[in-house]
Amino acid sequence: MKKKIGVKISGTGSYFPKKVLTNVDLEKIIDTSDEWISTRTGIKERRVSEINEPTSELAFKASVEALKFANISPKQIDMILVATITPDMLFPSTACFLQAKLNIPPAPAFDLSASCSGFIYGISIAKAFIESGLYKKILLVGVDELTKITDWTDRNTCVLFGDGAGAMILSASYEDDNVLSVFLGADGSYSNLLFLPAGGTFSPATIDTVNKRLHTIKMHGKEVFRAAVPKMVFAAEKALEFSGKKLEDVKLFIPHQANMRIIKAVAKKMGISMDKVFVNIHKTGNVSSATTITALDEAIKTNKLKNGDIVELVAFGGGFTWGAAVIRI
Ligand code: ACO
Repeated sequence: MKKKIGVKISGTGSYFPKKVLTNVDLEKIIDTSDEWISTRTGIKERRVSEINEPTSELAFKASVEALKFANISPKQIDMILVATITPDMLFPSTACFLQAKLNIPPAPAFDLSASCSGFIYGISIAKAFIESGLYKKILLVGVDELTKITDWTDRNTCVLFGDGAGAMILSASYEDDNVLSVFLGADGSYSNLLFLPAGGTFSPATIDTVNKRLHTIKMHGKEVFRAAVPKMVFAAEKALEFSGKKLEDVKLFIPHQANMRIIKAVAKKMGISMDKVFVNIHKTGNVSSATTITALDEAIKTNKLKNGDIVELVAFGGGFTWGAAVIRI
């Protein structure tokens, strides 16, 4: 009988821009306070990319680190997948820009858009391609530069977001099978609660769209909060069920770093104590497609995880989209 192809997680990497924007810095440009932001969100500071530092540049730096960690040359990569909602341009894809920067041979490269759940959607796509036997080494990146689509006059949103990138190499293997399960969902009827109105075909760019700040994120925060918690719990429980593992088998939960109150509410509803929940939102803010992978990378590099540990990633984002994955490190 033909042996099943497994998915090995060969390496991870991450990159955050150098420039730090603290809550105290924000106090100088909008009517807010460190106290309001910290208590409502858990965020203390976030990283901001330079104007000449596009999404593909952060993706490139995270990918170089992941390739080095995995001891894999760019030439061995046979597919590039980039989860992002802030591409360098509407087209070509950021994955194509990344391919050129890494000098990867003409392997297929494409972007996927699932907002903050993007990286988990990406794990699912990579798993399917590897298990089918079509591709052997996939570079998967979660990257966003939300500060470039933020309305810096809107205190309801501008305090929440940051920039960053995380990368993972997934390889075909007959020995390891590290992606135990993935569960995904979406409900487009909520698309009016978290969105970027202009710049696409629905509302192409005009002077008017620029003047009305329609190229920046619009969000109904309370409604997002209300939907995020049950959907994240649902996704996390489904992925756990499909993996055949129990709550107590999971060494670390890595939720989407959107908001400390969402993270705590999800943990409470699932009966997980906060010492099993990884949090780095205080220093990153919400980096959308990059949150789960950058948090996972930090947990690995700071020795919070060791080989063989089971981790659950769970996310929720605009669309709405949601997803969870149970993986073995
Ligand atoms: N500083 C000071 N005051 C503020 C700020 C700010 N940055 N932002 C809003 N306020 C004010 C509001 O104007 C309002 O004042 P008012 O009562 O005089 O009108 C007051 O604070 C309360 O505002 P609410 O919107 O009711 O605040 P809430 O307690 O709901 O917290 C928050 C807002 C943090 C955005 C919350 O709704 C939330 O966490 N939502 C989830 C949104 C989220 O995480 N989005 C990320 C993208 S989606 C994702 O990644 C899952």
